Amino acid sequence: MSGHAFLGSPIAASLTRGREHAGCPFMPVFGAPQVMFVRGAGTELWDVDGKRYLDFLCGLAVTSLGHSHPVVAAAIADQAATLLHVSNFFANPVAADVAITVDRLHGGGGQVFFCNSGAEANEAAFKLARKHGGRGRFAVVSAYGSFHGRTLAALAATGQPEKHEPFQPMPEGFRHVPFGDIDALVASIDQSVAAVVLETIQGEGGVVPADADYLRQVEQACRRTGTLLIIDEVQTGFARTGEWFGYQHSGIRPDVVTMAKGMGNGMPIGAVWARREIAAAFKPGDHGSTFSGTAIATAAARATIAEMERIDAPKLASERGDYLRDRLKGLAGVQEVRGAGLLLAIELAEGLDAKSSYTALLEGGLITNAVTARALRLAPPINVSTDEIDEAIAMMKRVIG
Ligand SMILES: Cc1ncc(COP(=O)(O)O)c(C=O)c1O
Repeated sequence: MSGHAFLGSPIAASLTRGREHAGCPFMPVFGAPQVMFVRGAGTELWDVDGKRYLDFLCGLAVTSLGHSHPVVAAAIADQAATLLHVSNFFANPVAADVAITVDRLHGGGGQVFFCNSGAEANEAAFKLARKHGGRGRFAVVSAYGSFHGRTLAALAATGQPEKHEPFQPMPEGFRHVPFGDIDALVASIDQSVAAVVLETIQGEGGVVPADADYLRQVEQACRRTGTLLIIDEVQTGFARTGEWFGYQHSGIRPDVVTMAKGMGNGMPIGAVWARREIAAAFKPGDHGSTFSGTAIATAAARATIAEMERIDAPKLASERGDYLRDRLKGLAGVQEVRGAGLLLAIELAEGLDAKSSYTALLEGGLITNAVTARALRLAPPINVSTDEIDEAIAMMKRVIG
């Protein structure tokens, strides 16, 4: 079926009427989509009617080099015509290249496991922590307000009890402490705790950065007690915050890092990095995935990371982030700007609410995300131009003042 035939079909119509509609082919786990996009280039997206939008969300911090980046698109097309996939009984050189690069970006001395999403990266990290901890040392401590994914263990680690409720009982061995409270974290670490998992900026929780001192104290507490420190960089990783990884702002050295989202610029791929002596706890058969390190996904990641290195993406994210932050601060409707690099949230002024602001911005052609009742999340491409930032600010001025 051609793209056009689909768009004109009753299925497309049912989608825009809401996913609970009987004709909708998708399970109703997502809300009714407001727009159907058919094409993207850089920061721009076009919907079915040809209307242009500026994408200041990037599929939630995924398309960090912009839509349909020519280098990534060419790498995917080349790889598709060369070798898509072999099983993990065999090696492919693309995955090896990416593993070596990811290890280098973490300072070396580690090993990598590839998967397909952020939740899977966290699942693998939790299994590694349990295997490393040994019998009796299995628990994972995480923070309230965190988000680690939707699979059962990742959901159990997610510090949002209301998301657990419909799926009780949750898997055992997950406990939560207030984010930023070092005493509570230290008190939670007993002989049963295998790992602590934290985001350096709680993305889904409202773009709430961790204090660098807090992260350093967490690192010390983990070292003292032999507890693994897992940093979830699924949203913050790959240059988004102005460093390759969010933890690098505070100078800590995690034992395990989980990644996904921006890694393949839209190609589904995730990864876990662990220090070599920790990774050694895994033995053949302990973990795996059919698509782990598949050639097509790692080709996208190889091109994405190479392009990010070429443009010095961390520096660019930091510079464009400062530019955006400064202009946001000049808007009357903005009470506070928080975050780092190009992962930002604006807390709206009294009387404004995020949902209606988001809707009005979308109608005006700007894509953002209502991350809390009063905050909008912004995650534009790292190579967003200053003209595009100015254009987005002008749109925001019209809507939020
Ligand atoms: C910090 C963090 N961890 C994990 C996940 C889950 O990733 P995925 O949706 O790819 O499973 C997300 C997704 O938003 C995230 O922000």
